[in-house]
Amino acid sequence: MKATKRLNKLWQRGQELLGVQYPIMCGAMTWISEPKLVSEVCNSGAFASLACGNMPPEMFEQQIEKTRELTDRPFAVNLITVAPNYKHHLDVAVQAKLPVIVFGGALPRDQEIEKAKSAGAKVLVFASTAALAKRMLRYGVDGLILEGMEAGGHIGPVAGPILWQQILFEYAEQVPIFIAGGISTGKMIAYLVLMGASGVQLGTRFVMTEECDVHDNFKAAFRKAQAREAMATPQFDSRLPVIPVRALKNKGTGEFSKLQLEILKRLDAEEINRETAQLEVEKFWIGGLHKAAIAGDVDYGSLMAGQTVGLAAEIKPVAAVIEELLRDAEQELARIAHTLGQYI
Ligand SMILES: Cc1cc2nc3c(=O)[nH]c(=O)nc-3n(C[C@H](O)[C@H](O)[C@H](O)COP(=O)(O)O)c2cc1C
Repeated sequence: MKATKRLNKLWQRGQELLGVQYPIMCGAMTWISEPKLVSEVCNSGAFASLACGNMPPEMFEQQIEKTRELTDRPFAVNLITVAPNYKHHLDVAVQAKLPVIVFGGALPRDQEIEKAKSAGAKVLVFASTAALAKRMLRYGVDGLILEGMEAGGHIGPVAGPILWQQILFEYAEQVPIFIAGGISTGKMIAYLVLMGASGVQLGTRFVMTEECDVHDNFKAAFRKAQAREAMATPQFDSRLPVIPVRALKNKGTGEFSKLQLEILKRLDAEEINRETAQLEVEKFWIGGLHKAAIAGDVDYGSLMAGQTVGLAAEIKPVAAVIEELLRDAEQELARIAHTLGQYI
């Protein structure tokens, strides 16, 4: 057990909601947040969400069972509301009596939140704008994950510090709020809990762990990447909307930009209609994360990564990452207490 005297006081509500000692969450990452990584994080006293992407419901059930074989600690499942199998995933999660269900993708309906809660689960929902956060609070969620656009994977339109001012500062008393996106150090965690966060969620940093079973090429690309290379997908024209994803730039991202520009020319020339244009754009990245993270094609696959990719170059065991985060957060809080004692 690590000495986390100050943190314990500051993030107590996060500990209670998640049922863990350290409310540091490893966010769900499709193909990556699998039983091994999830259980390793939970066995270290922190918390993790099992990803289900759009996997067949039976496979999702097996993944939950497998995780339970590897840890007796609590963990969450992450349901993507826009996945074709979403409704089945919700049924599986409810039947499995998971203690926490995290809804991502788009917003869950109020009946779906109710369904999860009536099965005994605590409900966390991602909020990427103030309006969505407020709606989710009205729907009675147990907590929010505020994710800024610095994060890796699918992102919202607003940067973290704006969301902290709009939501964290306004609603932290009302519900536990977890901050995601852009976090890689214990020092940062210290300031976030002082600002009212009940915990944090990290994704990119956990890719750089020994227990994360991604292809070596994927980790190597993360190791050498700079923060500025983790870029949001550009959109060139409102007629051709793209779902923004933050990923490392590679040949694939270049090809995707070229494709959009070509399609726009064809739209201008009325060679294709908007529906066909949209389908062509959407099919480009299908299977892209698997291609990079599992098959190791880092040139053309999707290298989803947050800007914190520039902060973690070393691959460490999960337990060592958590230990480092806790130690540095606690030390920073001690330093701040000392400074405040001198000046205030
Ligand atoms: C490779 C990758 C895949 C991700 N896949 C998912 C996902 O399937 N579902 C989800 O809710 N979030 C997903 N995320 C977001 C993470 O759960 C987490 O919120 C985010 O990484 C936090 O920001 P950070 O990358 O700055 O640490 C993904 C992130 C990455 C880097």
